[in-house]
Parts: sequence; structure tokens; C-alpha cells
Amino acid sequence: MVKMHIMDRNILNKPTMKKTYISTAVVALLAFAACTPKKTQDKVSENRIMIKTETARDTISRYIYGQFAEHLGRCIYDGIWVGENSPIPNTRGIRNDVLAALKEINVPVLRWPGGCFADAYFWKDGIGPKDKRKPVLNIYWGNVMEDNSFGTHEFLDLCEMLDAEPYLAVNVGSGTVKDAHDWIEYVTSHGDNPMSRLRKQNGREDPWDVKFWGIGNENWGCGGNMTDAYYADLFRQFSTYCRADYKVASGGLNHDLNWTETLMKKTQDYQHLIQGLSYHHYTVCHDWQRKGSAVNFDEKEWFLTVSKNMQMEENLKDHIAIMEKYDSANKIALIADEWGNWFDPEPGVDMGILYQQNTLRDALTAAIYLNVFNNNCHRVKMANIAQTVNVLQAMVLTKDDMMVKTPTFYVFKMYNVHYDALLLPTEVTCENYTIEDESIPSLSVSASRNKAGEINITIANVNPGKEVITSLEIENLQNPSVKNGTVITAGTMNAFNDFNQAEIVNIKEFKGFKTSGNNLEVSVPAKSVVRLTL
Ligand code: AHR
Repeated sequence: MVKMHIMDRNILNKPTMKKTYISTAVVALLAFAACTPKKTQDKVSENRIMIKTETARDTISRYIYGQFAEHLGRCIYDGIWVGENSPIPNTRGIRNDVLAALKEINVPVLRWPGGCFADAYFWKDGIGPKDKRKPVLNIYWGNVMEDNSFGTHEFLDLCEMLDAEPYLAVNVGSGTVKDAHDWIEYVTSHGDNPMSRLRKQNGREDPWDVKFWGIGNENWGCGGNMTDAYYADLFRQFSTYCRADYKVASGGLNHDLNWTETLMKKTQDYQHLIQGLSYHHYTVCHDWQRKGSAVNFDEKEWFLTVSKNMQMEENLKDHIAIMEKYDSANKIALIADEWGNWFDPEPGVDMGILYQQNTLRDALTAAIYLNVFNNNCHRVKMANIAQTVNVLQAMVLTKDDMMVKTPTFYVFKMYNVHYDALLLPTEVTCENYTIEDESIPSLSVSASRNKAGEINITIANVNPGKEVITSLEIENLQNPSVKNGTVITAGTMNAFNDFNQAEIVNIKEFKGFKTSGNNLEVSVPAKSVVRLTL
């Protein structure tokens, strides 16, 4: 089943093509932080970041910094949930170390229970006394038996502890409309009805305030192998009975524009039923059969990864263009609820467990994706990195009672200044990073202004061998002064943080900037992510 699912992706994953990035005035107005390569690439004077203030109008939703935790490998069991009787310090069964780390990055929204798992999950098996819960066979991820001790109550308790909004996905692939309806009633209903009585019986008097509900997941693949038209009809049916304010339809993958077109067309006259359309984008270094090692890679593989990360912008814009066609009022959001790097599992780890190490390369990936989401925040209202703990591009990794914060964690920590801030569109002209006959822009940038008036600029330099010295100008701002700067970098491309060792990759102070009158010059180190606060 999983194999089929993964093969499906293969045809959608185009190889990196040689390309030239051309920024046009129109694109710039749309807040596209594009880089225009020049023939002479190394002249410092050609690197320029222009930050616009007059055309700023969109807010960067904090939900762009969302997380995704699926019943997969050691994400939930072991990574988040150890149970009340575990020797690992926990609060009501949830690991304290992971809880503290996730609080540090201020998780705004958490998606659960899947992923593929969602369309095989029966929520009623995961409520009530734990010793009476029916075990579940995780058919997608390693065929492991789960005892269902982490269910609806435990997940919502976690969200309350994190002060994060929950985002649940109902089972469309193998569940019924009634299951989905009942779950929403169980969780959110104030009235006196069978579902609210059941909830109270299970110890929760007040309903939870759950706004976001996904109607299935990847229903083109693991969520039922449906056609776009069939799913669109099912979506309308499920959504009619799912009484919630914010419902997200399952999307196609990467380049599947037909799915988006069909969904948008078939819901055009039913827009009260749909508030968001899901979009998944994974980067595999080579292809789905050979995804590449998360740690042992060379510069060519570094290049392939970051160039594929960058391609996401174009792909996202293609989906957005279709959405604009059917929803020019911008009522339906694009919800990028799975994204990140997907490498081969670490040696010795089962294929179905998806445990991968996380290096400085992943930090650059996170910065690129988040800059793209920020720059497209007029339509992208939520994103959820895959996944929070021990799976794919994780925030933290655990081993027994140990935990490490990954380079990706630190990018999330660095970027949370953008939460609910006003996006400042950027125009970027920069030198290329070239390897063999392929070139990509060296820089990825986004900027915002928060309510206190501070301007935050986040810049990634993907060139692992060369610092980029750039001028930085802010429209209508005289004599800019930098309040502080921070940087994430390391000595090697594949540096990572390991258990029981001092951290190699984290956030450090950055002083590589000079101001003189209206000029601000920034020296962005090779393979780094920099944040400046003005
Ligand atoms: O994140 C891992 C898997 O990737 C999810 O379960 C699925 O939605 C996607 O194919």
C-alpha cells in the first residue's frame, strides 16, 4: 500500500532543470522575493535586497509556522507520548523535554493524526479508559500495533499545554460521514447530545475549541486512491455534515494542478463548505527510489536539494493561479499542511519508520520554504512541516530519555518574529550559485514589520562555498539601524546536533553588517540563515 503510494509520487517529482530566474515588475509587486542572476556574477555591487513598504498589505499568518504529528514511526509513541508510568519525565504521559522544546518555538497549530494514518483511523477506538481501548494496526507505517493510548483527549491535552490550535483530519478513505460528524460533535459540541454525553462520561465536561478540520488526506493516494472528481463530490458530502468553521479539502501533490482545478471548480458554488485546500510538497534529493542520505551527501546533493526546495515557489504559484481563477475574493486558503525534506531513513532503521537525521542543509531548506510561504501569505494561511518529532524533517529527535534540537528547530525559533506581522514585499537581485551547468540564486529572502514597528529580514545564503555581500535598502526608511542580528551556520554542510554532545548548530549572534547613512551592507556567510531586526 505504502509502496504504491510512494510510486505515485514518482511521476510527479520532476528532476531539477537548468533555469534562469527572471523577476518581473509584476512578480515583484506580488511580493515575490526573486533573484535575477547576472552575467558577471561575483560583483558585490550587483547584490541588492530592496524591501518595499508602500505595497505592503498582507499579514503573515502565524499558522504558517505550524507542525504536523502523525502516528508514524516514533513521532507519537516514544517521541511525544511515553505514558504516565514511564520513567521518562512526563506530564500526563507527554514527555517534558519535548513539551519544553515545542514551547520554546511557540507552536501555533498542530496537525494530527495523519497523514495517511488519518484515513485508517477510527477515533472511537482511542477514547475512554486506556485499558479498554481497542488496539490499532498501523497499516501504512510499519504494520505496528498501537495500543491507542494516545487518542483525542491526549492530543487535545497536548495542544492545550502548548497553547497551540489543534488541526484534526477526519477519515474519508475508510470512514463514514457519520464517524466524521460524530467526532466533530464529540469534540466541539456544547449542547446535550449523545456525543457530548460520551465526552463528559470520558472526563471532559467542556468542549474543546477546535477550529481546523481536514476532510481526509491525500485522497488521491493513501486516502483511498480516488479520482479528483470523485473526491470533490465526497468532500461536498462530508463537509455538509461536518459542523465546523474551517474545513480543509485534501489537495493533490506537488505538480498535480488538475486536482486543484477540479476541486475549485466543483466547490465553486459551495464555497461555504470549503475554507482551505491542502497542498503537500516534499523534496527528495534524487527520486523516490533513492532519496539520498540525510547526512552523507556531497555538494552536488546539497545543490539538488536546495534547488528543488526553491522550485516549490513556482509550483505553489501555479496552484494559486488556479485558485484565483475560481476564488478571486481569496476566501479559500492554500494550506501547505505537509512539507520538507524526505531522505532515506538512517541506516538500520525500518523503511516505514522515516527516521532521518537533520543537518545544516535542513536548516537552509526550512528557511527557503518559510520565506516562500511568507512571500505568498496572501493565499498561504497555514503550513505544517512534516513532522514534529523523530520523523522526516523533525524539530527534535529523541533516543530513550535523551532529546536533541535539530537545525530546523532553530530556524523555526529564529523565524517566529514573523508571526502575524505585515509582509514587506522584497525585490532581490543576487549572484547565482552555480554547480556544473546548473544555477540557482544564492539568496532567499523575506521580510515583515511587526506591531511594534520592528522590521525583521530573514535571509538564507544557499551557497556553501561563498559569502554573499549585499546592499539592503528599505523603502522610505532613512538611516536604518540594526537592533540585532542572529545567524545559523556551521563549519560543514552536514553538521548536525547529536545526543549527549554539545550543540554544533544553533542560533548565534551576527555582526556581519555595516551601516553608513542610508546604506546598509550585509555579509551573509556561506551556507547560513541570517535574521536582522531593524
Ligand atoms: O508525512 C509522511 C506521509 O507523507 C504522510 O502520511 C502522507 O500524507 C504523505 O504521503
